[in-house]
Amino acid sequence: MSDQLPSQKTWGGRFRGAASDLMTKINASISFDKRLWREDIEASKAHAAMLGAQGIISADDASAILSGLDQIAEEFERDGVPERVELEDIHMTVEHRLTELIGPAAGRLHTARSRNDQVATDFKLWTRRACGNVRSAIGQLQEVILLRAEEQAETVMPGFTHLQVAQPVTLGHHLMAYHEMLMRDFDRLLDADVSMGECPLGSGALAGTGFPIDRESTAKALGFLDGPTKNSLDGVSDRDFALDFLAAAAFCSLHLSRLAEEMILWATPQFGFVKLSDSFSTGSSIMPQKRNPDAAELVRGHSGRIMGCLTSLMVTMKGLPLAYSKDMQDDKEPVFEAYDLLLLSIEAMTGMIETIEFVPERMRAAAEQGFSTATDLADWLVREAGVPFREAHHITGAAVKAAEDRSCNLDQLPLDVLQQIDPRIDERVFDVLSVDASVRSRTSYGGTAPERVREQIAKAKE
Ligand code: ARG
Repeated sequence: MSDQLPSQKTWGGRFRGAASDLMTKINASISFDKRLWREDIEASKAHAAMLGAQGIISADDASAILSGLDQIAEEFERDGVPERVELEDIHMTVEHRLTELIGPAAGRLHTARSRNDQVATDFKLWTRRACGNVRSAIGQLQEVILLRAEEQAETVMPGFTHLQVAQPVTLGHHLMAYHEMLMRDFDRLLDADVSMGECPLGSGALAGTGFPIDRESTAKALGFLDGPTKNSLDGVSDRDFALDFLAAAAFCSLHLSRLAEEMILWATPQFGFVKLSDSFSTGSSIMPQKRNPDAAELVRGHSGRIMGCLTSLMVTMKGLPLAYSKDMQDDKEPVFEAYDLLLLSIEAMTGMIETIEFVPERMRAAAEQGFSTATDLADWLVREAGVPFREAHHITGAAVKAAEDRSCNLDQLPLDVLQQIDPRIDERVFDVLSVDASVRSRTSYGGTAPERVREQIAKAKE
């Protein structure tokens, strides 16, 4: 605003010329940091109450500030936050409105405080809440996975390594693998949240303040259980909390992306393991036969952006000298973006898994095709005929070759053919060659046997 008088700026006292429009534009963060309005008001209330209690401002001023802030919260809740670039950011927007409401007493709110400790506090509070919201979304996805896994505890499908059929597994087991990944994501967000337990408010611009503030009380009022940050320079310049959140978000999105990738693959006619519900797929504008897994593809795509957000903030921070630099204003958008994308991805994935139709016949057929029970034959030779595993591996290879030549599965080979390969094989071997017998036998802890999968599910339910 070229017609803006310099003195109208909060920091305008020493400036004679007005800021150029471009300066105002590049400086403003209100378009995005207005998302911090609740936290900003909450932190200001804690600060004002403390200033009053310490006798740094009068009790009357403190109570005028507190009720003014309450009124602003009501207004913002009802009408949204006004976006005036000349007010720069959410902190000035709140203070400006407070001045309109209560007059000069509003000017006392910023005593013993700087926007540097203010923004660090607001943003940390916001990020803690984000950790909590993402955790509860993850919890809901896990619940859906549990239900589907329970329902598919016996369903046999091929397990893959190198995307080649390896050994039969149960679909419930496969789904529960994602439950495990999401559990780690949940815990990572919890750890991140716990590590954000110190309150930066009261660090001032960088050096602390000469006013007799009570940082313990503001930390407590704002739910920072570990008390105030111990070093004011670190207090205003630390953004590890945002990076911790972004790292946890990146991990979670990585896991969602792998799940999405499998759904995309499984939904192809070549696999045919799943049918996506109408509600989570789209058609093609030109090819009438198509049903596209767009939601899964977007989850996979969004993970790249979320990882980019982590990289973006790391690169922003890595060259900054202590304490605050304006570069740090760029800390918020990557965090907001990652949060929005991640929450949407988790919710979309929850809906997708809830409504997806599994096709057990196709899974079973694929498991039976790839000689997936070859390891079971080798294990049988070791167990029942005392053959060393390396030799058993060799014998089994010959059996696979024989089955390949006859275009049949291992369990369809006649006994005499098997005995020509190795006379120590007898008819009991057929007990282990079917895919059902194979999965039932894998009862080691964490293994794919339905009874073990049910155990995993029961444990996860706790
Ligand atoms: N809008 C600023 C930010 O987000 C607030 C802090 C401003 N501090 C300053 N020294 N100019 O970082």
